[in-house]
Amino acid sequence: MKSTEICRLLGIQYPILQGGMLWIATAELAAAVSNAGALGVISPYAGMDNMGDPVKNLEDQIKKTRQMTSFPFAVNIPLDLKDSGILIDLAIRQAVKIIITAAGSPEMYSEFIKGMGIKVLHLVSSVRQARLAEASGVDIIICEGVEAAAHNGFDELPLFSLIPQIVDEVSLPVIAAGGIVDSRGIVASLALGAAGVQLGTRFVVVEENIAHQNYKQAILEAGDKDTAITARKLLPTRSLKSGFSKQLLELEAHGATAGEIRRFIGYRRARKGQIDGDLEAGELYCGASAGLLKEILPAGQVVKNLVSEYQIIINELL
Ligand SMILES: Cc1cc2nc3c(=O)[nH]c(=O)nc-3n(C[C@H](O)[C@H](O)[C@H](O)COP(=O)(O)O)c2cc1C
Repeated sequence: MKSTEICRLLGIQYPILQGGMLWIATAELAAAVSNAGALGVISPYAGMDNMGDPVKNLEDQIKKTRQMTSFPFAVNIPLDLKDSGILIDLAIRQAVKIIITAAGSPEMYSEFIKGMGIKVLHLVSSVRQARLAEASGVDIIICEGVEAAAHNGFDELPLFSLIPQIVDEVSLPVIAAGGIVDSRGIVASLALGAAGVQLGTRFVVVEENIAHQNYKQAILEAGDKDTAITARKLLPTRSLKSGFSKQLLELEAHGATAGEIRRFIGYRRARKGQIDGDLEAGELYCGASAGLLKEILPAGQVVKNLVSEYQIIINELL
């Protein structure tokens, strides 16, 4: 597979990132991905008890990851978490080398993180946000299209349109995310000017992921029309169609306000779906390409397949 600027900047063999996943991107998953030559990412709540302490949990996850891999890994910090500043502080004290921020302004911490000699990546979903991230001093931009699982940008821009527009607008390397589950998506993203890819849903359905079997199975059974975007007025979110998301869509169709949507979603629905496996009441984040996912594999095998199938496509194109 092509070695891009991302590989040099992050010290990885392949320009592939496993996406941060708040409750389920654990040390075990990140280490398996990093050991395979891609970039594993850990998340602050991953592996934590429902009422656990995210700061303590993240510290444990960082230490555990180090025991399982000597390759680079990153920490993902959604800036809308209550403790985001403390979590960034912890990651810095733990000498983490790569931090990925999302769901907030890159102006908040990028210069500070960079000043500590740490690579900072920020997730964007529009050209305007990409420009702001560049001006804020981030090293790499992750450009996420509306195909992506979990939280989407308000403008709901598709990845194929977004990548070249962002690439033309900024001079930083750009990583593509959203709906990429196999090497076809990687080749296409690189052709559009991306220097790497980030995959989320593909790394839910792997052996090392602690996600509940019900959730994994529901992803494997999903077809092209089985995900939906909910909470458009509050925080557009792509997940599997389920009892919960159908009820939410109905509320929205009846003109529910952002406050009413927030009250309906309530507390820790994502954990209920992804960890407890409650397919009715839980929130089951899932990307739009789930229909392509047919089996649970070891994470390292996923990376191997992405690399070998990439080469087959390139050979066919030549
Ligand atoms: C279960 C789940 C949880 C996620 N949580 C986060 C998160 O905490 N922070 C973040 O930046 N992105 C999060 N994402 C988005 C992924 O990191 C990634 O960008 C996205 O899944 C890419 O789209 P794909 O799923 O179609 O590959 C999550 C995705 C999933 C599937």
